[in-house]
Amino acid sequence: MSYDVLPARSLSSGASRTMVDGFGRRIEYLRISVTDKCNLRCVYCMPEEGLPWLRRGEILTYEEIAGIVRVMAGMGLRRLRLTGGEPLVRKDLPRLVDLLAAVPGIEDIALSTNAVLLAPLARRLRDAGVSRVNISLDSLRPERADAIARRSGTLARILEGLDAAHAVGFDPIKINVVLMRGENDDEVAGFAELSRARPLHVRFIEVMPTESNLELSASGFLSCDEALARVAEVDALEPVPGPPGNGPATYFRFPGAQGTIGVITPMSHNFCSRCNRMRLTADGQLRPCLFGTMQTPLRDALRRGEPLQPLIDETLRVKPEKHLLVQGSSAGSGGLIALSQTGG
Ligand code: 5AD
Ligand code: SF4
Repeated sequence: MSYDVLPARSLSSGASRTMVDGFGRRIEYLRISVTDKCNLRCVYCMPEEGLPWLRRGEILTYEEIAGIVRVMAGMGLRRLRLTGGEPLVRKDLPRLVDLLAAVPGIEDIALSTNAVLLAPLARRLRDAGVSRVNISLDSLRPERADAIARRSGTLARILEGLDAAHAVGFDPIKINVVLMRGENDDEVAGFAELSRARPLHVRFIEVMPTESNLELSASGFLSCDEALARVAEVDALEPVPGPPGNGPATYFRFPGAQGTIGVITPMSHNFCSRCNRMRLTADGQLRPCLFGTMQTPLRDALRRGEPLQPLIDETLRVKPEKHLLVQGSSAGSGGLIALSQTGG
C-alpha cells in the first residue's frame, strides 16, 4: 500500500480504539517530558548556560498528565515513556508512575534517564510499574564523560544507576550513546563490548542538529554505518530482531553475546515511515513530531475543562510524513534549541 493515497484523516474513535495518522501509521506510543530541566548539560543536547526554564504553573501536574493519558488511552494509546530534560529531577516521579499504571489500556511504561539519580529510586520506580529503562551514556572514560556532560563525577553515578537498574530487574536495559567524531568515536568498539557479558543493549545514535549544537552536529557527525564498520572489525555482527521496544533502532549481535548492538539513524537512513509516536511536552503541548513547529496546546483546554479528544484528533491529522532535518543546518529543526525541550 502506498502511503500517499491514504486520506489525511484520523481514524481515532472510542469504538475502534486505534489512532491512525494521515499516512496510515498507527500511533500507540507517547513520550512524556515531565520536566524541561536537567542536572547535566550534555554538549549535543543543552547549552551550557541552560535554557529559559518553564515556570512551575506552566508545567503539567501529575494529575493533569494522567488525565491526558486517560483520554488518549481511550483513543488507542498503549505505551508510555517518561523523559525530560531529566525525568528524575522532578520530585517524586514514582507517584506519577503509580497514576499512569492505573490508567486502563496502558500496557507498558518505560523511562529514559541519564541515571545519575537512578540508584536510590530504581526499586520504587520498578514497583510502581516502570518495566524498562534507557540510560544515556556517551563515554566510559570518567574525564570524558564529565566533559561531555559538562558536570563532574557523572560516570561513577551513572554506573551505580546502571547496577541498580540490573538489581531491580528492569528489562530490557538499553544504553544510548550519541556518536561524536573527535569526542567518543574511538570508544565505539569498547561500548559494543559491553553487550557481550551482560544483557545490555547498546545503541549508537546519530547526532541531530538543533540551534544549540550546530557546530558539533556538523563537524562531529559520525554515521552509524561508520560506527558499525568499526565494531565489525572487532568481531562478526549478525542482524537480530533486538529487544522489545517502540523505537526505530536496528539491531546486531556479537556471536554468543547476551546483549545486542543497535543503531538509530535519523540522519543517514530515515525511519519516519515507521513512526508510532507523539510527544507531550512538560507544559502540555502535544507534538506530532520531534521536529517542526507543529504542536497543540492541551494544558489550558484541560484546565478549562474542555474536551481534549478533538485537539488530539487534530494533532494526529497534521502529523507530518517525516522530519526535514539537514545535516549541519538548523533549517529542519523547527527552531528547536535543544532536544531536551521535547524529550528527545
Ligand atoms: N541528537 C541525538 N540524540 C540526542 N539526544 C539528546 N539530544 C540529541 C541530539 N541532538 C539523546 C540523548 C538521550 C535521548 C533521549 O536523546 O542522549 O539518550
Ligand atoms: Fe540532560 Fe539527557 Fe540532555 Fe544530557 S542528553 S543534558 S542528560 S536531557
